[in-house]
Amino acid sequence: MTDSLVEAALAAKTKAYAPYSKYRVGAALETETGERFQGCNVENASYGLTICAERVAVVQAVAKGFTKFRRLVVATSSEPPAPPCGACRQFLWEFGPDLVVEAVGPQSKRSWSMRELLPDAFGSELLS
Ligand code: THU
Repeated sequence: MTDSLVEAALAAKTKAYAPYSKYRVGAALETETGERFQGCNVENASYGLTICAERVAVVQAVAKGFTKFRRLVVATSSEPPAPPCGACRQFLWEFGPDLVVEAVGPQSKRSWSMRELLPDAFGSELLS
């Protein structure tokens, strides 16, 4: 059976703007109500301004008014499939510990909960 969120992440990967690293990343995020948002990494000649695919997907969703997510698929050409970077883990945590993150590579898949990816996270409750 085809997993359409995986297909969406793979499609987003083809849109990656990665002329410097040549490392292409696609992300597809599913909201609690079934909407879907895609992202790809967007690099810059000023390297530090690069934005990861995961954060692009989240920003697209938030800009459309969605902040509750259930699944994120990240597609790369890495084996084992690459999990989100540390900055993206923190960014994703903002929208909840219940998100399931899946990584897809050419040969295999892996998945994690956000609590596994970011134990002892810094979250909004610590600001009160
Ligand atoms: N990248 C992502 O898009 N997501 C990650 O979680 C890790 C890294 C991108 C950033 C950069 O364009 C390239 O991969 C190499 O680091």
